[in-house]
Amino acid sequence: MKAAFIGLGIMGSRMAKNLLKNGVSLTVFNRSPGPMQELEKSGAKTAASALDAVRDSDIVFTMLPSPEVVEQVVLSETGCLSGMKDNAIWVDCSTVNPSFSVKACQVAEKRGIRFIDGPVIGTKYPAAVGELVFIAGGDKALLAEIEPLLKFMGNRIIHAGETGKGASFKMVFNALLAQSMLVFAETVIFGEKLGLSKDFLLDTLPNLAVSAPFTKPKAEMIRTDNYEVQFPLEWMYKDLHLAALTAYEHDQPLCMANLAKELYASAKQSGLGREDFSAIYKSLKKTGGGA
Ligand SMILES: NC(=O)c1ccc[n+]([C@@H]2O[C@H](COP(=O)([O-])OP(=O)(O)OC[C@H]3O[C@@H](n4cnc5c(N)ncnc54)[C@H](OP(=O)(O)O)[C@@H]3O)[C@@H](O)[C@H]2O)c1
Repeated sequence: MKAAFIGLGIMGSRMAKNLLKNGVSLTVFNRSPGPMQELEKSGAKTAASALDAVRDSDIVFTMLPSPEVVEQVVLSETGCLSGMKDNAIWVDCSTVNPSFSVKACQVAEKRGIRFIDGPVIGTKYPAAVGELVFIAGGDKALLAEIEPLLKFMGNRIIHAGETGKGASFKMVFNALLAQSMLVFAETVIFGEKLGLSKDFLLDTLPNLAVSAPFTKPKAEMIRTDNYEVQFPLEWMYKDLHLAALTAYEHDQPLCMANLAKELYASAKQSGLGREDFSAIYKSLKKTGGGA
């Protein structure tokens, strides 16, 4: 299969590299040239546009920030969907809202393109070592057809259901992740206020049965005040916004996630958007625990 990969940011660059490592014939496109030049060294062909990247490809992966960008790069009049081969497969790995995935699938199918929503769980390191978890929505037989390629980038492929269900699960997962991080950060700040040492709190809290395991590496980021980006805070804010939008579409109250959304909004506004989302600690600390 000839493949194309569009969007070579933190995640896409690493995922594309794993396809190349496994001998996949790959054409890449990114808005800024730097990441393409890097992958060229690993054997990728580069394209002048997304449209050029997809022309000969049997399968196209996109890893873009938001539904707005996927719309612009793929679905719009100038988007690359129009250049895809008939019966090609488009796997959208971007984290987008479920109703957008359903719309993207409908537009793609009208053009004779097969579609899978395939967002991933896992960040920079799992992406680098091919240990992402794909949560896919769409036709099960189609997923089975592309599984060998997905296995070059991930070590678990979960079929969540029909189109949009991959995006749905990813949304639920990130709403939980965002809130768990926030609760952990607030708890550490509260403990510090009570005179408990920060090191003691960061050593003990992540190991408790009530704590999520991911708080262990995040505790180290807080301890060293090093929020080198893995999952950008701005994309966590985006995901909470999409969760709020989706809840509205389903007439579902989402009180806690909406509260979390505003706290991440405030952190982004204070300039932390391109730091890791665990920098929510820094934001809460600066504002004395509030927005
Ligand atoms: N980082 C994580 O841990 C993680 C984990 C799971 C899922 N995700 C999801 O994966 C997606 C990508 O995340 P990421 O962390 O890789 O993001 P990122 O590092 O910010 O990369 C975003 C990519 O999209 C491109 N892009 C941005 N705006 C664009 C536009 N208007 N037109 C064309 N291209 C544009 C960027 O190009 P430039 O290089 O030119 O800026 C870059 O290649 C997001 O949906 C995110 O929520 C991220």
